[in-house]
Amino acid sequence: MIFETHAHYGDDRFNEDRHKLLMSMEENGIGNIVEVGAGIQSTKDAVNLSEKYSFIYAAVGIHPSEVAGIDESHMDWLLSLTSKEKVVAIGEIGLDYHYKKPEQNIQKKWFKRQLELAKKVNLPVIIHSRDAAKDTLDIIKSNCASENCGVIHCFSYSWEIARIYIDMGFYLGVGGVITFKNSKKLAEVVKKAPLDRIVIETDAPYLAPEPYRGKRNCSLYLKYVIDEIAKIKGLTAKEVIDKTEDNAKKLYKLV
Ligand code: NI
Repeated sequence: MIFETHAHYGDDRFNEDRHKLLMSMEENGIGNIVEVGAGIQSTKDAVNLSEKYSFIYAAVGIHPSEVAGIDESHMDWLLSLTSKEKVVAIGEIGLDYHYKKPEQNIQKKWFKRQLELAKKVNLPVIIHSRDAAKDTLDIIKSNCASENCGVIHCFSYSWEIARIYIDMGFYLGVGGVITFKNSKKLAEVVKKAPLDRIVIETDAPYLAPEPYRGKRNCSLYLKYVIDEIAKIKGLTAKEVIDKTEDNAKKLYKLV
């Protein structure tokens, strides 16, 4: 079945139909979902959803855009959550230089601190990196343990950078962007990367694939992402589903 490696169903945009939507996943071929925290509230939501739904797992972490008011007490809190059985990763964490705030040094500090946390509890990391290729790579190289690396979520850089992460043992998260007409760079990455290094994700409610681009995303639309990957790599959709499910289970240590 399809393994959705990255979603945010705690988002307000699912308030109207969250339960109904989540209950429709299985009949539509979605086996598991990892609900990813991106701040304090969304991390709480992730843990709650993982406790309510058997097929949902949680990742806990503070997104680079949310680190401005963070202190050590939040790290203690994240650490305490990692003892819960269904918390499978630290994330999403990383660097986002697309907007000017919080300033880069603050982002770097909490990125490193959360990588340290992941290393301490031996959990994989979910990396968010936007317009920050070099700093992300430098920090990961010196702060990540090789045996529990993780996934570069919504991978958006060149094949040259993809290859470095693959060599380090990372997975590349591929989502709706692969269906966009202007996604040539990502198409090249998907073509060249071995299928056993790719996992699929929505980042719902964001980044809906064509033909839903700009609308609210959800895991039911992953079939468009899968079809595009299958087309690029000359495989069947089933081969892509089976292999990426395997990959996701290895990534989150569920096997
Ligand atoms: Ni996300």
